[in-house]
Amino acid sequence: MNSGTAHRIIAIDGPAASGKSSVARELARRLGFVYVNSGAMYRAMTWLVLERGIPATDAAAIEELAEHAPISCQLRERDSLMLIDGIDPEPFLREDRVNENVSLVSSVPRVREILVDHLRRYAATNDLVMEGRDIGSVVFPDTPFKFYIDASPDIRLRRREAQGQRDRITARDEADSSRRASPLVIAEDAHVIDSSNLTIDGVVGEIIGRLKLKGLTISR
Ligand code: DC
Repeated sequence: MNSGTAHRIIAIDGPAASGKSSVARELARRLGFVYVNSGAMYRAMTWLVLERGIPATDAAAIEELAEHAPISCQLRERDSLMLIDGIDPEPFLREDRVNENVSLVSSVPRVREILVDHLRRYAATNDLVMEGRDIGSVVFPDTPFKFYIDASPDIRLRRREAQGQRDRITARDEADSSRRASPLVIAEDAHVIDSSNLTIDGVVGEIIGRLKLKGLTISR
């Protein structure tokens, strides 16, 4: 929860390839807030699971690994960074095998508890723009600043292809929306934006307009 901290949290949730990463990063830059990509943390944990040769279906082994995982969450400039054994796994996070297994690994409740703990700690010292699947619904349910970015399935598929990635986003969305632990949902009080026909600047502009209406003081 973000009660007990004066820091502002902007939660940006949505399905795969909805444009939320580009929007969240640009929004954070404009506001001077720290940008936290929670998906990168679930991807990093998945990469570690695969590197250790653990099948993504072995929830017990994944829990055990997560419990003792040598992870440390830090900031580089104003971006979140999760190091594993002191190594930045960023170059590996978009590998096909990570795309294929990340939904399974992130459905393990203990993995979520551990990562959510790290995510909440960022709010102790920073104003944040945090993107993910459950940021407004579970990680920071008390924040008044919640957005859900969507786009049509066709457009999302085309965006991923344009990035040169093989990513079965429909299967991931299905798994992320139907899992028991913190599924992808639209938080009740989230403002929904369909980005299908909008530019990144268009979406960011809409969010900033909404934030001003909600009383967020924007100093830049
Ligand atoms: O945002 P992304 O597509 O890089 O996220 C990769 C996966 O991580 C996504 O398919 C589900 C998981 N994830 C999650 O379970 N909860 C989050 N808050 C963020 C991502």
